[in-house]
Amino acid sequence: MVLRFGILTVSDRSAHGQRPDASGPALSEKILSMGWQVPQAGLVPDDLRAIQDILTTWVDELELDVILTTGGTGFAPRDITPEATQAVIERPAPGLAEAMRAASLQVTPHAMLSRGLAGIRGDTLIVNLPGSPRAALENLEVILPVLPHAVQLLREDENAESGH
Ligand code: MTE
Repeated sequence: MVLRFGILTVSDRSAHGQRPDASGPALSEKILSMGWQVPQAGLVPDDLRAIQDILTTWVDELELDVILTTGGTGFAPRDITPEATQAVIERPAPGLAEAMRAASLQVTPHAMLSRGLAGIRGDTLIVNLPGSPRAALENLEVILPVLPHAVQLLREDENAESGH
C-alpha cells in the first residue's frame, strides 16, 4: 500500500530564508525510504491564517493520505501550528499525539513542551511534529507502524479488517 504524504515546514526563519529547512527534507527522506510518496512539500511562516489556508487547500485539492507539519508546536508566542490545525480538523486523533509525547518523554523531558496534535479532515490525517529534524524524526518513528492501517480505515479500504 503506497501512502501519499504532504510535508509542511512551519518556520518564520526558514520561510524568510534565514535558515535552511532541514526538517522537511529529513522527513521526506524517511517517508520515501518507506516506499511511500511525497507529492507535496512546502514552507510557511508561523502565521495562523497562512497555515490554515495551506492545510485546507492541500486536503481539499490534493489526494493526500497524511499531512505532516514540522515546527511551531512549542511555547514561544509565535508557535501556533496546533491552533491552525485545530481550526481545520473535523475529528481529533489524540492517540497519535499521546503516543508521540509518551515515547519522547523517554528521550527528553522537553517532550512535555510540544503542544502538537493530530486530527482528521475529510479522509486526510494531519499530524503536528516538533521543529528540529531530530525531534521530528523521533516523533515520526513512533507513529510510522500504525499509519498504513490508519490510512486503510480513512480510505474505507475493504481489507482494513485484516490490519487489526
Ligand atoms: N521530542 C523528541 N522526541 N525529541 C526532542 O528533542 N524536543 C522538544 C519537544 N519534543 C524534542 C521533542 C522541544 S525542546 C520542544 S520546545 C518541543 O518539542 C516543541 O518543539 P517546536 O517548537 O520546534 O515544535
